Amino acid sequence: MRILSGVQSSGRLHLGNYFGAIRQWVALQGEGEALYFIADLHALTTVRDGALLREYVRETAVALLSLGLDPERSTIFRHSDVPEVTELHWILGTLVPLANLERAHSYKDKVAKGFAPDLGLFTYPVLMASDILVYGSDVVPVGRDQVQHIEFARDWATKFNLAYVKGYDAQDPTGEKSGVPGILKLPTARIQETTAVVPGTDGQKMSKSYGNAIDLFGEEKAVKKAIMGIRTDSTPVEAPKPTEDAPLYDLLKLMIPASEWEQVDRDWREGGKGYGDFKKKLLAAFHEHFDPARARRQELLADPAELERILARGTEKARAMAAPIMDGVRRAVGLR
Ligand code: ADP
Ligand code: TRP
Repeated sequence: MRILSGVQSSGRLHLGNYFGAIRQWVALQGEGEALYFIADLHALTTVRDGALLREYVRETAVALLSLGLDPERSTIFRHSDVPEVTELHWILGTLVPLANLERAHSYKDKVAKGFAPDLGLFTYPVLMASDILVYGSDVVPVGRDQVQHIEFARDWATKFNLAYVKGYDAQDPTGEKSGVPGILKLPTARIQETTAVVPGTDGQKMSKSYGNAIDLFGEEKAVKKAIMGIRTDSTPVEAPKPTEDAPLYDLLKLMIPASEWEQVDRDWREGGKGYGDFKKKLLAAFHEHFDPARARRQELLADPAELERILARGTEKARAMAAPIMDGVRRAVGLR
């Protein structure tokens, strides 16, 4: 089983990235051949400062390693180091209906938030589909917001196979009965249901672009400020606290160790404790959870050559996996 996922290097990693994605990545390392990449090409759609992008790429790579991705068990690399991806992006794009892209949530959301739409943002799902299909990925662990992208990847892989593979049967994509498998394999999304959407400090989905994130590797003061600033309502200290539309409650539930959760949940529902107390609890839980990774990050930042070695080894492995698939694609379409 080939497992693949990517994270954009468009800012620092936050709790949403960890509980929505990276925690699964770490767990999945043992279940198959895992590929994880830093999506710098995707980040170009929002970061327009070369020095900053380079910093984010390094930070993201260091963060992934600190949080438990093991270069011995996973292939870790930079998106832009695999040129086969952008080649497939073009070829696949010749089959993608514009109507699909017009209804992409990622695009519609960004436009609704006031971003000026450009071709990069519009074609983003095609690049993402290429990321997945170029390695013949089976499983793609992502947050719920990415599911539409995986469905697009399946649809477009099917379109490609129908167009270019003689005898391909869309009902039998692996070719079990027909003996004719597709060139592009259909991937499946894997979502961790309990933490499908991690709320930010304002109660919306946590995102680096919404200014509501709690950074995993933020300065101690900044982390404290973000946690103390989580939106709460005016329920008095003595009163039971609402559990709906309560980002503080949802974040506590994610972070408090299972053995303590029952007590915290009871305190929340019974009243008698103020929101300030719960925020302090959350802050302590944050440090308990992430301080070991925060220390590992410091060690890795001190050894940039080792980081480059890890990424170079990852690139080599990733390109070796992409090569036979791209070879099949080029031959099928007539470029070779
Ligand atoms: P952001 O929204 O901050 O730009 P990305 O889009 O780079 O984050 O997300 C990287 C990964 O983390 C994706 O798999 C995404 O689904 C997951 N993710 C990001 N934010 C959240 C969140 N608030 N809840 C759950 N998963 C999230
Ligand atoms: N678009 C994803 C996000 O914003 C990141 C990503 C890029 C990705 N390519 C991918 C995730 C391929 C999974 C597979 O989170």
